[in-house]
Amino acid sequence: MNLTFLGHAGFLIESERGNILIDPFMTGNPSCTLKPNDLPKIDYIIVTHTHGDHVGDTLDIAKKNSALIIAMNEYAIYLNQRGIKAHGINFGSFEFPFGKARFVQASHSSSLIEKGQIIYTGNPFGVVLHLEKTIYHAGDTGLIGDFNLLKRYDIDYALMPCGGNFTMDVEDFLVATEMVGAKKYIPMHYNTFGLVDQSKYMDKLKKDNIIIMNPGEKIFLEVKK
Ligand code: NI
Ligand code: MN
Repeated sequence: MNLTFLGHAGFLIESERGNILIDPFMTGNPSCTLKPNDLPKIDYIIVTHTHGDHVGDTLDIAKKNSALIIAMNEYAIYLNQRGIKAHGINFGSFEFPFGKARFVQASHSSSLIEKGQIIYTGNPFGVVLHLEKTIYHAGDTGLIGDFNLLKRYDIDYALMPCGGNFTMDVEDFLVATEMVGAKKYIPMHYNTFGLVDQSKYMDKLKKDNIIIMNPGEKIFLEVKK
């Protein structure tokens, strides 16, 4: 099983039962070293919320791969009405062919801007994926008490934002690591552009349970059989 960091909040998970993209903001992402064409066949795309730095290349990649988009119900309906296949969820869980996905609270907002109008697309969420390893992608979120609920899921890798301004900063990220109960933490959503620049605080992330991934980097997640 492999985990690739696309930069910002984008990740590719290559699992035994399918390849999953989360928040594939590639085109226009100054930190992304890969192009959509560099990706393997994509089966599923999870969009945690509809801000541009998360939807990113979702529609193009979904079309090219006939991938299923998994999104908050309102956004899934928006896509379905435009002839795009999407599975709508809300806070809860669902058994997908790749494994169980649990959709959890993220304290943020979610909307689209079309012709100058703001369109409501439902709540933003985080997701716990029970694959060969258990992976949590927090989406965009501030520090929330709900992190304490995640301990029971025995998370192996927690991908959490630390860029500040729109999400937790490094200081709050470190508090969150004391709550989530994951084996390893991977920071995301930082240093992509000026507003989320945390380069001054990077030293604080030098800890045994924190893995700093560079954009484009792939790590192999060992699976015990
Ligand atoms: Ni956002
Ligand atoms: Mn964002």
